[in-house]
Amino acid sequence: MSSFRNRMAASLLHRSSNSTLRSLPTPSTNSNMVDFLSNDYLGMSTLSLPQTINDRHANISRTHGSTGSRLLSGNTPSHISLESLISTLHTSSPGNALLFNSGYAANLGAFGCIPRDGDGVVMDEECHNSMFTGYKLSRARGGGGEVRTFKHNCRDGLGEAVRREGGEGRASVVVGLESYYSMSGEAADLRGLMEEGVKAGEEAGVEVGFIVDEAHGTGTFTGRSPLTEVVEEGGGMREHVLCGVQTFGKSVGCHGGAVVDYNGGENGSSVVEYLVNYARPLVYSTSLPPGECERVFGCLEYLNSPPGEERRERLRGNVAYFRDVMGGAKLGEGVRVKGGADGPIQAIMTSGAELSVRLAEWVREGGYDVMAIRAPTVKEGEERIRIVVHEFNTREEILGLTRRVEAFWD
Ligand SMILES: Cc1ncc(COP(=O)(O)O)c(C=O)c1O
Repeated sequence: MSSFRNRMAASLLHRSSNSTLRSLPTPSTNSNMVDFLSNDYLGMSTLSLPQTINDRHANISRTHGSTGSRLLSGNTPSHISLESLISTLHTSSPGNALLFNSGYAANLGAFGCIPRDGDGVVMDEECHNSMFTGYKLSRARGGGGEVRTFKHNCRDGLGEAVRREGGEGRASVVVGLESYYSMSGEAADLRGLMEEGVKAGEEAGVEVGFIVDEAHGTGTFTGRSPLTEVVEEGGGMREHVLCGVQTFGKSVGCHGGAVVDYNGGENGSSVVEYLVNYARPLVYSTSLPPGECERVFGCLEYLNSPPGEERRERLRGNVAYFRDVMGGAKLGEGVRVKGGADGPIQAIMTSGAELSVRLAEWVREGGYDVMAIRAPTVKEGEERIRIVVHEFNTREEILGLTRRVEAFWD
């Protein structure tokens, strides 16, 4: 027994020695710290929903445990009506959405079974851990071989990666993208990337299909999501989308995830039906509590109504203000506000784990809740403090945060 414990202790010591040790932070709820940390971009987690939406919630027989997986006793009317709402919002017809217990589980489910024997898999290097881990569960490349990554958001890199897969004789390639990246705060040029991938596929004689993680994009910029906007704009992108993955733990302020099939029913095929059969996190896990499904339902309805748009408008204003004041702040040598981030996820790049930890501690001691992000979550040399601007942050709070960051170098 002791050798197991010794090697765990040695691993932790290693992390400690290079400032990458993770530990659970003190909960900031009920503290006086200003929230610049949570993914609750639109303040939905604390919203009292309008009465009509609450009435739905009151009418369900079970609000807590769902009592089984979707394939057993855990398939309730609340799950079905939420799926129907998501499907109709994103594809204009029901039957094209499938709930998962979290976004992580949705990615494990989709990436774990959609790529098959002989397929290539290509991903943006900044894709979320759940996409890479999901792929490892798949049978692509004979079972969890290396994913071919390309430089973050780089069209040429994506095209080159697809061509290389073709050069290795693959007939089909699954490409993983995010629509809005969780650490860089950069939105993807989804249409440009997809067009490039499809073109490269045609040249190399490979079929390309996209799985797009929309975790941070769901509800953030529009009531729906960036992928849905691209698909609806036309231009032939829809047919190349295998599925989108949404999560409800960020802008929606709840919990859970869903896979959306934009081509459901085409050639008699359905990604939803396929996942019901092959996605292990769905088949072998107790489904979401029905009460949570009702809450997600209400929040999605709200986000697609005028008050939801008002929240997004306030968020846009706060982000612009943050970029203005923090952009003009005097920071230490080599430290900079990350460029290219026009949404709620912002970052101050410190290029060093130790500095990121000290700076984050300093800012927290000043009453502003932020977090240092270090390797392996980001690449070595790209350490940062991640700052989330919310709809509910006041201008005074944003200015106060900026002054506190500047004071670190006084
Ligand atoms: C890009 C991305 N995808 C998926 C997930 C997982 O979603 P969830 O928190 O719902 O498990 C996260 C979580 O942070 C994420 O950032």
